[in-house]
Amino acid sequence: MNEPAQILTAKSLAKAFAQGSEAITVLQDINLQVDAGERVAIVGRSGSGKSTLLHLLAGLDEADAGGVAVAGETMTPASNEARTALRRQYMGFVYQQHHLLPEFTALENVALPLRLNGASQQDAQSRSADLLERVGLGYRLSHIPSELSGGERQRVAVARALIHGPKLVLADEPTGNLDATSAAELMSLMVELSESRTVAFLVVTHDATMLHHFDRVLTLTGGGLEESKPSEA
Ligand SMILES: Nc1ncnc2c1ncn2[C@@H]1O[C@H](COP(=O)(O)OP(=O)(O)O)[C@@H](O)[C@H]1O
Ligand SMILES: [Mg+2]
Repeated sequence: MNEPAQILTAKSLAKAFAQGSEAITVLQDINLQVDAGERVAIVGRSGSGKSTLLHLLAGLDEADAGGVAVAGETMTPASNEARTALRRQYMGFVYQQHHLLPEFTALENVALPLRLNGASQQDAQSRSADLLERVGLGYRLSHIPSELSGGERQRVAVARALIHGPKLVLADEPTGNLDATSAAELMSLMVELSESRTVAFLVVTHDATMLHHFDRVLTLTGGGLEESKPSEA
């Protein structure tokens, strides 16, 4: 019951990339807190640094300054091993391009994070089958990604992101490659899962029609985050 109130905290994050002899500042002084179970959208024009920010929050890349904590534990600065361990325990990811393994079935793709976390094959497969059932894909367990529609692939990707019981899912334009109907279905699924499992979602999106699903909308502009109500974004 003692859920940490904040699942994610970022303080004074800064990031620049070298371009020739110059450093291009992408993020400066980013401060962000996400509560347990909260749904937060990040919007911003292309190139504003949204993907860079998600990578820093996931500990996949290191900030030049500042820190990130996940469930009260330090994600950065920390060793690669410590970051990987925190990611596997607390986080799930959904990308714009599903990033499913092409040779693996839907069931095997979803089971993989559990296997990496040490579950037996039998346990991993039965839990994965249950979750795929839950996202409406019980009849597609043995299909490989190329045999699934775009919307089905993203539902598998959402199941894979959630299978190990993370408290935070980071999603980078997860509906960006979907038609409007599939995008709306995927968003509804994410909302339902966030409510039934108290999973916080931090979602980068371009789609203004999705914003009413979020508790908060943050706009990334000029390297910083500005907050607005969903209705004003
Ligand atoms: N690894 C990198 N090396 C150099 N520049 C990068 C790198 N990653 C991103 N950038 C630059 O940082 C800026 C922000 O990129 P990105 O985070 O992908 O933006 P967004 O996701 O909002 O479209 C862009 O100008 C991009 O060219
Ligand atoms: Mg991006």
